[in-house]
Amino acid sequence: MYPRLLEKVKKVLQTKSDVFVLTSSGTGAVEAALSNIVKPGDKVIVPVAGEFGSRLADSVEIYGGKALRIQVEPGDSPTAAQVEEVLDREKDVLAVAVVYNETSTGTTVRELEKMGEIAKKYGALFIVDAISILGGDWLPVDEWNVDVCIAASQKCLAAPPGVSIISLSEDAWKAVKRGRPATLYFDLPRYKKYLEERKETPFTPALPLFFALDEALNMIFEYGLENWIRRQETTAKAFYSAFQAMGLKLFAKERARSNVVIAVYAPEGIEVGKFREHLRVKYSVVVAGGFGELKNVIFRVGNMGAVTAREVVTTVSSIESTLADLGAQVPLGEGVKAAWQYLKDL
Ligand SMILES: Cc1ncc(COP(=O)(O)O)c(C=O)c1O
Repeated sequence: MYPRLLEKVKKVLQTKSDVFVLTSSGTGAVEAALSNIVKPGDKVIVPVAGEFGSRLADSVEIYGGKALRIQVEPGDSPTAAQVEEVLDREKDVLAVAVVYNETSTGTTVRELEKMGEIAKKYGALFIVDAISILGGDWLPVDEWNVDVCIAASQKCLAAPPGVSIISLSEDAWKAVKRGRPATLYFDLPRYKKYLEERKETPFTPALPLFFALDEALNMIFEYGLENWIRRQETTAKAFYSAFQAMGLKLFAKERARSNVVIAVYAPEGIEVGKFREHLRVKYSVVVAGGFGELKNVIFRVGNMGAVTAREVVTTVSSIESTLADLGAQVPLGEGVKAAWQYLKDL
């Protein structure tokens, strides 16, 4: 089933490159990419728009690379021009590594395709952490010049957690072959050899999770990948317009808004922890808080995987009711009404 699963992974990534499924969460695939590709002293441009961009830059350094960070204001996402400016200034940049969807702030890079073109123009590899977005937004890996795409099972692919995905283009392999990978468990040439010679992984795979991912991909293809993504676009629009109709302020700038993580400022006087607890206990709806400094400032709604009209209506009405229970001024029913404008056609 392993080669069959990899064919499905290629289909969801829209790539002809080599792909592997690894027994690790998404962070393992990030480490696999960097420990194989980055050699001591290599320069890697990393836009940092939140926690996961910051971790990506740290990981470059852990493997001996030099991370050239582009600091982005929280709530915004990096632009292709910002990346080009650094490529232009620095010489011999090995790679541009970018988090496509910054889960900690609910922002998505809307110029990913352009960034890929620019990286190629300067001869740099394009590495994309698509962990929280693959299957939830557009990502044709080959068409957008992505050399290394990293994803995980548990987000928009709606499979259980515990396995991750990595793709490597021919250019990525060339970079890998410059030296010995700084890892045994994630030694990717070894994964390639085992696949080609035995159709196996080099180490014990988390088999139940491989089967689960296989089935999750079957479900997506039955629904149609394009339909699956379009449904997320629609439910995202429904969520955003519902929160605005409730009078809440959205965290992400409009040009950076994520379709898979909806980040919203808590209304004044409402404590995020208390709000989340009330929502969970009374209405059985779970939302996330913010990360780090945003912990008590925003809440985040996951719009990943099998989110349908039912989940949107339940979440929106439960949030409205919770805010009213806690004494906030919310026009009850307005959120659902706004969401329905989008959901009626689903
Ligand atoms: C963008 C991004 N990168 C990396 C990670 C880490 O993935 P994992 O928790 O699967 O190791 C996450 C997890 O939320 C993420 O959203």
